Amino acid sequence: MSEATVSLFDTETLKNPYPAYKSLRDSQPVYFEAAMNIHVVTRYDLVREAIKDTATFSSRYDKFLGASQEMMFAQASEEVQQQLIELNEQMIEVPPTMLTLDEPDHTKYRSLVNQLFVAARIKAAQPAVQAVIDNCISNLAQGLDDSAQPEGVVEFVGTFADPVPLRIIGDRLGIPEEDRAFFDHAATQAASALRLTPLSGEALVERARTALQLQQLLVRLVEERRSEPQDDMITILANSKLEGDDRELTHGECISVLNQFLVAGHETTSSTFGWGMLLLCQHPQLQEQLRGNEKLIKTFCEEVLRLESPVQGLPRLVTRDTDLGGYPLRAGDMVMLRYGAANRDERQFAEPDSIDVNRAKAGSQLAFGAGVHFCIGAPLARQELNLGFAALLAAGRDYRLAAEQLPQSEASFILRNLPRLDISFTPA
Ligand code: HEM
Repeated sequence: MSEATVSLFDTETLKNPYPAYKSLRDSQPVYFEAAMNIHVVTRYDLVREAIKDTATFSSRYDKFLGASQEMMFAQASEEVQQQLIELNEQMIEVPPTMLTLDEPDHTKYRSLVNQLFVAARIKAAQPAVQAVIDNCISNLAQGLDDSAQPEGVVEFVGTFADPVPLRIIGDRLGIPEEDRAFFDHAATQAASALRLTPLSGEALVERARTALQLQQLLVRLVEERRSEPQDDMITILANSKLEGDDRELTHGECISVLNQFLVAGHETTSSTFGWGMLLLCQHPQLQEQLRGNEKLIKTFCEEVLRLESPVQGLPRLVTRDTDLGGYPLRAGDMVMLRYGAANRDERQFAEPDSIDVNRAKAGSQLAFGAGVHFCIGAPLARQELNLGFAALLAAGRDYRLAAEQLPQSEASFILRNLPRLDISFTPA
């Protein structure tokens, strides 16, 4: 098969990577992308093989994520660099805890954090999740009459897709009401670091300042919950002991875990809401088919995740000379596992570019990863998505796009979402 000529970093490809993924799966399922010095893996079987072999494909890729920050630092003016150094000196050092750690250390943190997401806890929180969803749905209905928008149009991302997961994670963590506005801002900024898109000097300093203030807020809350425990996630995290070490987490470790909740847990779920609503608008017959049918709504959510994987991919560091599907890799190479490409692999999913709410084994999609790093927040994300779409369909009819032009995805390599989505609907 002839080699594909693609660049995954073209703006158009970043916005719509699926044609490039198909071409790569067929001709170069492991492909060297010179722009980032990474070997990109696009086929389902190979992505799974690499995820499962954690001894060869390590999660110690923190340097890769740090490299883009270092590059931006190097390109900044001297004045900006000085401000960044000063802010950095005040920061607590944050060790890797789950996402960028391998076994056995990964296992210790994972078992501590796991207790936050056990089924009983998720179930107990269902009424609170439903209340947040219902509240944002009434904002959607009110938004239709908002004079800032053309009549009968509401912007879905800012009114529903963003606030629902933010509010829920803020509630579950136990962020006090007076700190909410700052928390929402800081959580959004934290996720923006994963875009790997260049920032102005001013924006870099603002992001660093926000990160420092977020650390200060989280440390304050950890200490408060140690002296006065409440019924929230920070209390459990602050007062649990690390397996085998018989000690509580340090401030740096608490911040590390909480940062991952903010980066991985908020924008990903928002993104899925946005893509799911777009699919509903594009397929009006689905709205009728899904309304009131819990089982089909579940499969619909898995299909949204499969088709528009909010985390398009994550890296792994090769620890020893090996090969993947016959492609040679050397110790020290960086591979990029493209969940977004694996999820549309025709070798795994029939008619992979189409939504099928009756698809058998829809849950075998890789949007949450697999193996030891399988998304720990998946039960919470699924709960929000299943309840959210059920409530949206119950509360409105005839969801449709308000603009003629198809909404544009942002051009981003890792976290991919719709920045805005103008819709109309008829309240039920
Ligand atoms: C639709 C929503 C979500 C998607 C698509 C998603 C996606 C992912 C993916 C792909 C991974 C695997 C990383 C790897 O391969 O190394 C992951 C891990 C993780 N996710 Fe999620 N996530 C979502 C929601 C959440 C939520 C709600 C939380 C927490 C509140 C969360 C917290 C985490 C954490 C802490 C990890 C690291 C787990 C580990 O390394 O052991 N995620 N997520």
